[in-house]
Amino acid sequence: MDRMLIGSASFDAAEAARILQGFAADSQTLAARMTGTNAQARDVKARFEKFSGDVQSAIEAVASRDRMKARYSQLRADCRSCHDIYAR
Ligand code: HEC
Repeated sequence: MDRMLIGSASFDAAEAARILQGFAADSQTLAARMTGTNAQARDVKARFEKFSGDVQSAIEAVASRDRMKARYSQLRADCRSCHDIYAR
């Protein structure tokens, strides 16, 4: 995805959609598995649900490289903000 949006590879909407569908499926699976009830478990679950929603809006924009690129930077921010807290 980085190569298509930031690097020099040409943008392939079908390939981008395929990658995003993988993110959507994985984040939904992870959110569903987060059944803990403490504050941290609920926070991680909410983050994966937000990420999944942001992936859906990127999928809706996949026909346009420019719109998709803007939504993809939101996804990168979601990766980063969760990792900053939980993936050390
Ligand atoms: C809601 C939280 C959350 C989001 C969103 C998230 N991650 Fe993670 N990620 C984690 C956690 C927690 C770990 C550490 C897992 C572990 O140590 O077992 C991790 C680990 C990773 C790893 C390392 C895997 C490994 O085996 O070392 C990669 C690569 C990664 N994430 C990529 C991404 C990318 C790319 C995105 C965004 C597209 C993303 N993550 C979004 C929580 C998140």
